[in-house]
Amino acid sequence: MSSKKACEFYAEDIPNLNGYVVIVTGGNSGIGYETTLQLASHGARVYIAARSPERVNKAIAEMKASRKVKLDLHPLDMDLQNLHSVKEGADAFMRLESRLDVLINNAGACPSFHS
Ligand SMILES: NC(=O)c1ccc[n+]([C@@H]2O[C@H](COP(=O)([O-])OP(=O)(O)OC[C@H]3O[C@@H](n4cnc5c(N)ncnc54)[C@H](OP(=O)(O)O)[C@@H]3O)[C@@H](O)[C@H]2O)c1
Repeated sequence: MSSKKACEFYAEDIPNLNGYVVIVTGGNSGIGYETTLQLASHGARVYIAARSPERVNKAIAEMKASRKVKLDLHPLDMDLQNLHSVKEGADAFMRLESRLDVLINNAGACPSFHS
């Protein structure tokens, strides 16, 4: 009998995510980083919505270097505090992909509209 409690969920419980397209907001650090790494390690194509190209590209490079398997990771330029930036990021995403399977709203930001 497994020692896991029914409510527990581990990274190894994540199924094969080949073919899934995911966006993780704030995936260049903290919880979002680990979420991105696990989803990509299980085969998902993951877009990291981030406001700093420098930080997100560094995170992607680190994630790729940490795994033997090829990770399908992409930056998505988006400042969640700026709704114009969010729309531009969403438009850019829709030009690249025809589907979104999972959206992880990780970055906790209160959007304000800058006209
Ligand atoms: N850690 C905890 O114990 C805990 C507990 C409860 C809830 N949470 C929630 O879980 C989420 C992640 O927490 P965390 O501890 O991993 O936070 P974190 O390490 O501070 O990471 C937050 C991420 O969000 C990004 N971000 C913040 N504002 C953004 C914006 N305007 N546009 C785009 N990206 C933005 C940051 O990017 P930059 O590098 O550009 O700053 C960073 O990658 C947050 O929503 C937090 O409130 C955390």
